[in-house]
Amino acid sequence: MTESNTYNYKVVRQFAIMTIVWGVVGMAVGVFIAAQLAWPALNFDLPWLSFGRLRPLHTNAVIFAFGGCALFSTSYYVVQRTCHVRLCSDKLAAFTFWGWQAVIVSAAITLPLGITTSKEYAELEWPIDILIAVVWVSYAIVFFGTILKRKIKHIYVANWFYGAFIITVAVLHIVNSAAIPVSLLKSYSAYAGVQDAMIQWWYGHNAVGFFLTAGFLGMMYYFVPKQANRPVFSYRLSIIHFWSLVFTYIWAGPHHLHYTALPEWTQSLGMVMSIILLAPSWGGMINGIMTLSGAWHKLRTDPVLRLLIVSISFYGMSTFEGPMMSIKTVNALSHYTDWTIGHVHSGALGWVALVSLGCMYYLFPRLYGREIYSLKLIEVHFWTSTIGIVLYIASMWVSGIMQGLMWRAVNDDGTLTYSFVESVQAMHPFYIIRFLGGALFLLGTLVMVYNLIKTVSGSKPVSAEIPLPAAAQ
Ligand code: HEM
Ligand code: HEM
Repeated sequence: MTESNTYNYKVVRQFAIMTIVWGVVGMAVGVFIAAQLAWPALNFDLPWLSFGRLRPLHTNAVIFAFGGCALFSTSYYVVQRTCHVRLCSDKLAAFTFWGWQAVIVSAAITLPLGITTSKEYAELEWPIDILIAVVWVSYAIVFFGTILKRKIKHIYVANWFYGAFIITVAVLHIVNSAAIPVSLLKSYSAYAGVQDAMIQWWYGHNAVGFFLTAGFLGMMYYFVPKQANRPVFSYRLSIIHFWSLVFTYIWAGPHHLHYTALPEWTQSLGMVMSIILLAPSWGGMINGIMTLSGAWHKLRTDPVLRLLIVSISFYGMSTFEGPMMSIKTVNALSHYTDWTIGHVHSGALGWVALVSLGCMYYLFPRLYGREIYSLKLIEVHFWTSTIGIVLYIASMWVSGIMQGLMWRAVNDDGTLTYSFVESVQAMHPFYIIRFLGGALFLLGTLVMVYNLIKTVSGSKPVSAEIPLPAAAQ
């Protein structure tokens, strides 16, 4: 029996294709809103094209559509390969695919129309929230059902990370989305005032910790050793990494609410837990990068491995920056500024997007039984995107720190040194640089699309088991 008969690769393939499609769409909207910030005339005075409506479209498209499809695709692949069994239900797996696409299309229609709960990263209205909950519970059944019927006694660490991501996101989504509907498309949160804020940022921060981190660490633990053809640097460290990360993340949410009506002790607790979070994050990063020990030379010849290792480096960078920004005195400067946006994208582009795209380079040739069309083009993608990220985050650091300093500057008589408009004027060149950086990142992704289309339609067959790229082995 061939591998595609043994395993359900169909759903993995479907999610992999949609990862690329939604990645391009979400990034294109990102580039467009970046252009709007530099040239506001691009709002065209049309409500559904306004920045305020397209921004949540961007965040939902990149996090839940692009990131979500990458997580579904890789987790279904990894759980089958490491448990040596087919997914426990093909029908339910197919339902998660079509259900998730329905969620994404509903988001793409409702958000530009201005239909929103106004909770960041949880903007979708209650009927869509219910669909998300149903799809997510089905996902949990498929994933854990497959683990239950595994042929290998041991549960590989990547599955622990995927499992924690699936369980935690279910709990976060269901609790934070509790609402009282007043019509088909309007609801009000079940919580009020500061409790609402606290629950929202418990959700928001753990969306980062579990949606944008834990699942992607699952990818790291499977695909980096596979691509490098080396065992994980330290399996023991990976277990410590897992338990310390999941324990610590859940407390850190209040760092989003410094200097608000939230009780002081809660803010300080959030700050302390965020600083502690540096340790597990760096433990994991070191474990990922050191997997290459003894095989560093592969970085010279294997652009896919380079993408993966650079993504882990960006993970290390953003998880150093995050704890620093959670210190209250630092946050007094960084909050409300572009520094936060720079931090977000060093994690989002540098870590989440690069690791996902790296895994797609691993998966496509195996899923289609074709050798990759061009290693040279992966090289081009790597450099275009990396330069794009550096331009994006460096411009936002400069712009953000400048904003913070300009807003707090006071004259001897206590009046403000700069008007708000002066700070907006000063930001303009950096917004153009960010737009160029984003456009470069998108260009790199389009090069990848071309490469993958040529791969899939190409005539160079390869056995699913031959490691990629063949030239680098
Ligand atoms: C071509 C690539 C991208 C460009 C040009 C881009 C651009 C932007 C822009 C202009 C904003 C609004 C900033 C503001 O309000 O001042 C934004 C916000 C955001 N983007 Fe992106 N983005 C890109 C890719 C991504 C990716 C791949 C992800 C996630 C995986 C992501 C996640 C986010 C998040 C979470 C926010 C909201 C940040 C916050 O509220 O602090 N972006 N992006
Ligand atoms: C140890 C790990 C991390 C810590 C302690 C941390 C901490 C922080 C802090 C203090 C803020 C600013 C809050 C504010 O002033 O409003 C922030 C914002 C943010 N971070 Fe991180 N961060 C970490 C890692 C990451 C990673 C790896 C990503 C992405 C993959 C990420 C995504 C975000 C996003 C999306 C926001 C913006 C939230 C908003 O919309 O306001 N963070 N983080």
